Amino acid sequence: MNQREFAKRRRALMRMMGKGGVALLPAATPKLRNRDVQYYYRQDSDFYYLTGFPEPEALAVLAPGREAGEYLLFCRERDAQRETWDGSRAGPERAVSDYGADDAFPISDVDDILPGIIEQCDRVYYTIGLDPEFDQRVIAWVGALRDRGGAHTPDEFIALDHLLHDLRLYKSRAEISAMRRAAKIAVGAHRRAMARCRPGLYEYEIEAEFLHEFRRRGARLAYLPIVGAGPNACVLHYHANDRQLQDGELLLADVGCEWDCYASDVTRTWPVNGRFTAEQKAIYELVLDAQEASLAAIRPGAHWNEPHDAAVQVVTRGLRRLGLLEGSLRKLLKDGAYRRFFMHRTGHWLGMDVHDVGDYRVAEQWRMLEPGMTLTVEPGIYIPPGSRGVGRRWQGIGVRIEDDVAVTRDGYDLLSRGLPRTVEEVEALVGADAI
Ligand code: GLY
Ligand code: MN
Ligand code: MN
Repeated sequence: MNQREFAKRRRALMRMMGKGGVALLPAATPKLRNRDVQYYYRQDSDFYYLTGFPEPEALAVLAPGREAGEYLLFCRERDAQRETWDGSRAGPERAVSDYGADDAFPISDVDDILPGIIEQCDRVYYTIGLDPEFDQRVIAWVGALRDRGGAHTPDEFIALDHLLHDLRLYKSRAEISAMRRAAKIAVGAHRRAMARCRPGLYEYEIEAEFLHEFRRRGARLAYLPIVGAGPNACVLHYHANDRQLQDGELLLADVGCEWDCYASDVTRTWPVNGRFTAEQKAIYELVLDAQEASLAAIRPGAHWNEPHDAAVQVVTRGLRRLGLLEGSLRKLLKDGAYRRFFMHRTGHWLGMDVHDVGDYRVAEQWRMLEPGMTLTVEPGIYIPPGSRGVGRRWQGIGVRIEDDVAVTRDGYDLLSRGLPRTVEEVEALVGADAI
């Protein structure tokens, strides 16, 4: 993503804020895993969206119309000794030259400088409640102005996330191209995992195929990978990934990666030995039909729930046809009987966060799909072992098929294209490279 893209986003946000506003966006705080071991550092999505700045201990300040500079960045100073341990820092100088800040200051000076900037503004745009420690600092900066006496304090505090998350919902060409890349890497990884699969491997060996492909191509995990065989395919947020794959079982892999802070979120389900049983095939094809129906409902002007409604219709009819739901179709639909086996929604916004920001409803109505919105399409059916009143032959089957799409002017673009979806395509690939 180049600097022009970040500058464009800042301008768009500042236009929405108007003169007299000041937005405060802190970088993500590094988190300790235990003692002195850190979790991998991932920049805060809102902060990164507007700055492209990858370091911790930074604060972005946007003050539209401020004559001495609209975009200020507070960041760590250069420090030869620290950089020997932790790697290089941009420092305020490069924050200006490389990251487009109008002015930049050491983060250690923020308490001295920021109250004076806030004083010149009427409205503070800040998302309260995400980082309680930073909330206290914001309160302290305003408090410092009050203590001065005679200083002007802001009239209003406004939740920044409403404005910013609406911007983030509409992806630019550069964003869609980052998401296409994340999806393409995930597709390659799923292909590799399917091709190498065989009974006797462990779920973590399949997970390793994904990790290998992601890191080989410079991507990282976008969320904890779900690799569940047999009954584990029915556990929606399974991530122990430690069971041995048995001949005759299905394997569900929900694994996506992140490229330049943009996520892919892809699921495939396949038979460990490369051949679906009749029951597995019936459920798989039902989920596939539901996904097709759902995809067919994606176009500008459709409302958010239309793809889900389409999937629900297909799943309910199909489960009734297979004898897994009984009663009239009308009543089954009215009662939402599908929820017993399909307990999540058919998709969610996708972007910098896997479950990306953006409201699903506007003024109590489902939001309309518009070009540039990106979402997943992921129907599933799960029949855990021990399901009461369900024939044994169906038990232990869990199937989800998940792809990523961008809404276009006349429909959608499948970002995760090139991955087997039909029974024939899946059976042809599974085990093709098994060793
Ligand atoms: N991987 C999380 C989801 O599919 O929503
Ligand atoms: Mn998803
Ligand atoms: Mn997923």
